Amino acid sequence: MAWSRSGQWYAGSDRNAYIHRAWMRRGLPSGAFDGRPHIAIANTASDLTPCNMHLNEVAEHVKHGVWEAGGVPLNLPVVSLGETNVRPTAMLWRNMAAMAIEEMLRANPIDGVVLLGGCDKTIPALLMAASSVDLPAVVVPGGPMLTGTFRGVPLGCGTDVWRLSEEVRAGTLSEADFLRSESSMIRSKGHCNTMGTASTMGLLAEVLGMTLPGLAGTPAPDSRLLEGAHETGRLVVEMIADGRRPSHVMTRGSFLNAIVALAALGGSTNAVVHLLAIAGRLGVELTQDDFDRTGSGVPLLADLQPAGRHLMDDLYRAGGLHAVLNEVRDLLDPAAITVTGRPLVEALGDAKVHDREVIRSRRQPLQQDAGIAVLYGNLAPDGAVIKPAAASPHLLQHRGPAVVFDSVEDLHARIDDLDVTPDAVLVLRGCGPKGYPGMPEVSNLPLPPKLLAQGVRDMVRICDGRMSGTAYGTVILHVAPEAAAGGPLGLVRTGDMIILDVENRRLDIDLPADELAARQPSPEMTRAFARPERGWQRLYVETVQQANTGADLDFLIGSSGDAVPRESH
Ligand code: FES
Ligand code: MG
Repeated sequence: MAWSRSGQWYAGSDRNAYIHRAWMRRGLPSGAFDGRPHIAIANTASDLTPCNMHLNEVAEHVKHGVWEAGGVPLNLPVVSLGETNVRPTAMLWRNMAAMAIEEMLRANPIDGVVLLGGCDKTIPALLMAASSVDLPAVVVPGGPMLTGTFRGVPLGCGTDVWRLSEEVRAGTLSEADFLRSESSMIRSKGHCNTMGTASTMGLLAEVLGMTLPGLAGTPAPDSRLLEGAHETGRLVVEMIADGRRPSHVMTRGSFLNAIVALAALGGSTNAVVHLLAIAGRLGVELTQDDFDRTGSGVPLLADLQPAGRHLMDDLYRAGGLHAVLNEVRDLLDPAAITVTGRPLVEALGDAKVHDREVIRSRRQPLQQDAGIAVLYGNLAPDGAVIKPAAASPHLLQHRGPAVVFDSVEDLHARIDDLDVTPDAVLVLRGCGPKGYPGMPEVSNLPLPPKLLAQGVRDMVRICDGRMSGTAYGTVILHVAPEAAAGGPLGLVRTGDMIILDVENRRLDIDLPADELAARQPSPEMTRAFARPERGWQRLYVETVQQANTGADLDFLIGSSGDAVPRESH
């Protein structure tokens, strides 16, 4: 028997090898344990993760490819996270999923892994896990759903829920019509069809080099997804033979490529925390400032909701990710490779744009500087992020009085009767990784109905939480340190003047330093912070890092490799 990692379970004629083989046989062909590679399919299919429900079918096609190339495929159901279901927020469980997946990959007799994800946190968790084990790994992104329409108008998942619910609050849409649109929102299998976090992370998995080139963005019901899944099964066997691991594929150059793509696509702000967390697992040098330095000069080319008009199947039809990347090809690191071992830029070939309404040219971008801006100041000593492409241009330079909410509950209790001017700056705190816990997507605070009725559709909002990738507005997120970690966000009082200057990357309270330093945090706010006494939540709150470094747990950063653990018997 040839040496392999799984062979350390299966090879030989002793009692333990007998045990490992005997329990696994169950219909496997007799040659299954002769040293051929065993491939786990880390599968996040779950009925409670509706965006990933179809992944069992995808797994079957991966299996065909693995068998064909001489490997043994093994389905490994792993922790799955449904963004719309899981409370208090799927982000609280991302690190738990990553930790559980990492340990199960290492603990089992496998030589490589195919990662099946889709809904927001699933691909990040899978990539974090695979990075910390560093076995040959490749992602099959589950892909976006087809576009649903309501009364002839396309519906963007998430984005149009926010938009329509604001219309109801403003009194311009009836509740009955709002509810009528519900059954049209989710038309098919697949994840959200907007450029939200799932679309973003699926596409960035490919830009990082971690998918079969050309596969990301294939809609979930498209037969080409299954063809790609089959091909991926073949590819992972080849990767094992070549010893190609995540640490070879995902280099600093790959991450900088991902930042370029994030800007050109108008991708989700959540990608900042996810990419930082994945880089942290690999030991790749990457900071929040890299997003601003590398991304902010990149033009926005994809006209997709929430920043723009179209949806993911439009992007695919218009040429897809490769057509977008070809427009910014000169900004990509030519040395960064993919799971094929060949450079990403080579895989782009001459991919062309077929619809200039969806993918703009470099000469006529939707916006000149599209990346994520990182702001600093006495309100965010370790930084805060804003996506200018999703913000209102007239608010990017702003000075206005703070209206402070000490918790999400406080916000909901007061927002409907709030009487403020449109220049007010809504501040919500206690929503960071530790404070909530888990950094929920609440930063796009709803606007006061009185202002909505006057036609106001955007205000400056500041929060230590995240924002759904499908949301939009002049929203400053990921303020670090968060209020619950002692950040100055916890010292702001209603009426303080806030100064936002995106061009100069500033976010300040207009107060002398000594006055700010002399303040005590609000007791109402402090009372609302999470104080979990046991279980995962306690471990999380005690060890989670701030958003500016990826919100991973301190002891999960880095890699433990794929060393085979001690024998179990
Ligand atoms: Fe799953 Fe949007 S809820 S991708
Ligand atoms: Mg989301």
